[in-house]
Amino acid sequence: MSSLVIIGAQWGDEGKGKITDYLTNKADVVVRYQGGNNAGHTVIANDVTYKLHLIPSGIVQNKPSIVGTGVALDPVWLAEEMRILKTQGLCFDNLMIDKRTHLIMPYHRLLDELNEKSLGEKEIGTTKRGVGPCYTDKTKRIGIRVCDLMNKDIFAEKLKENITKVNVEIKEIYGAQPLDYQTIYDEYIALAEVMRPYVQDTTVMIYDYIKTGKKVLFEGAQGTLLDIDFGTYPYVTSSHPTSAGVCIGAGVGPTAIDDVLGIAKAYTTRVGRGPFPTELNDETGEYLRQKGFEFGTTTGRPRRCGWLDMVILRYAVRVNGLTGIALTKLDTLTGLKTIKICTGYRCEGELINDFPPELDILEKCEPVYEEFEGWEEDITHAASVNELCENAKKYIKRIEELCAVPIDLISVGPDREQTIVTGNFFHE
Ligand code: GDP
Ligand code: IMO
Ligand code: MG
Repeated sequence: MSSLVIIGAQWGDEGKGKITDYLTNKADVVVRYQGGNNAGHTVIANDVTYKLHLIPSGIVQNKPSIVGTGVALDPVWLAEEMRILKTQGLCFDNLMIDKRTHLIMPYHRLLDELNEKSLGEKEIGTTKRGVGPCYTDKTKRIGIRVCDLMNKDIFAEKLKENITKVNVEIKEIYGAQPLDYQTIYDEYIALAEVMRPYVQDTTVMIYDYIKTGKKVLFEGAQGTLLDIDFGTYPYVTSSHPTSAGVCIGAGVGPTAIDDVLGIAKAYTTRVGRGPFPTELNDETGEYLRQKGFEFGTTTGRPRRCGWLDMVILRYAVRVNGLTGIALTKLDTLTGLKTIKICTGYRCEGELINDFPPELDILEKCEPVYEEFEGWEEDITHAASVNELCENAKKYIKRIEELCAVPIDLISVGPDREQTIVTGNFFHE
């Protein structure tokens, strides 16, 4: 048995797509287990850029790729993503979608938008893809699953019940235009046929992969601080991007998980609202945004940028049981005179080492920094740690000391080739 989980260690967009793609080569199957098309994972290989939102990044290398039970699946988006990826030469013979996966419906998209609008200043800053409302229906036990869509009668009955209630909410609470049952029914029944060839009970397949000693790569979406339980609630997503999410989102037991690789940027970014202690609202923040091209893969929104925060990374190590870290975008720091690492917070005179659950406390936290000399050398072609300049090496070494888990991989550019491997994956 050998399985590896890819986890975002910060607020998402850490480079999970790139690292998943890099490790796909060594894996037998890639599984997405939570989130939906709120995610945007970028893979760059052979001068082609692929943007994956819903489909596992393993599809780029035509590896068996599973959309697991915990994913929120928008069939309209799925068809569109397949269409775009097809034009890039990808095929879907190896795509599998679980029967239990919940569907994002047009009213979920609409409610996401209306709810955000109604919150005004207090908006979460969601991607407006309908992911939150879809998971809400799941826990309300009125969600519509892939297997429901595969049966016209069941789908019709569930949709009718839901649309009647949701239209009252749309009209009465938000004063918006209600949705038409027949239009949604026709659209989704047509999409059911697009999906049907890929629909399976993937939990059986994943179990077989594990039992026969195959290598399973679980591709997380979002990041630890966007977790519904462990993130900066309520400024979070509605699923479990932490490693525990693998079990409920793929249908495997905890004993099936061997290693958990946390993906962390060499600095920190965040999209949407919520506290961010090391945020830089100055020219250094702007430098990181421009140099790192920090604009959302899904929404195009500029990402908020700040220094690397070890309180967050240690928290990610703890709540995910990280066995290693992949440090990405080290090259973005090139050209800065000094670089800072936040080692702890100071709040009203007290030193805080553990990430606080209370937002009001987090908002008052002042980062305590260690300063490092920057570097000017181009590191984007380094193929080993030895080929990195001394100051970059010092920076990495200090991160490794502070988070107390090994850095197994260093990424020095967006391309698949711009990867330095220092650890061992799948117990090779
Ligand atoms: P994900 O959501 O975690 O998969 O990350 P995104 O794809 O949303 O955002 C990461 C961005 O950084 C993408 O544009 C990647 O192509 C890019 N990227 C990934 N690793 C590196 C790296 O080491 N250096 C640079 N410069 N860019 C990187
Ligand atoms: P990947 O997988 C970064 C953020 C949104 C918002 C909050 C809730 O590419 O790392 P949602 O639409 O999920 O209800 O929005 O979560 N968010 C992400 N931020 N990367 C992502 O995915 C994200 N997915 C959701 O910006 O703050
Ligand atoms: Mg992303």
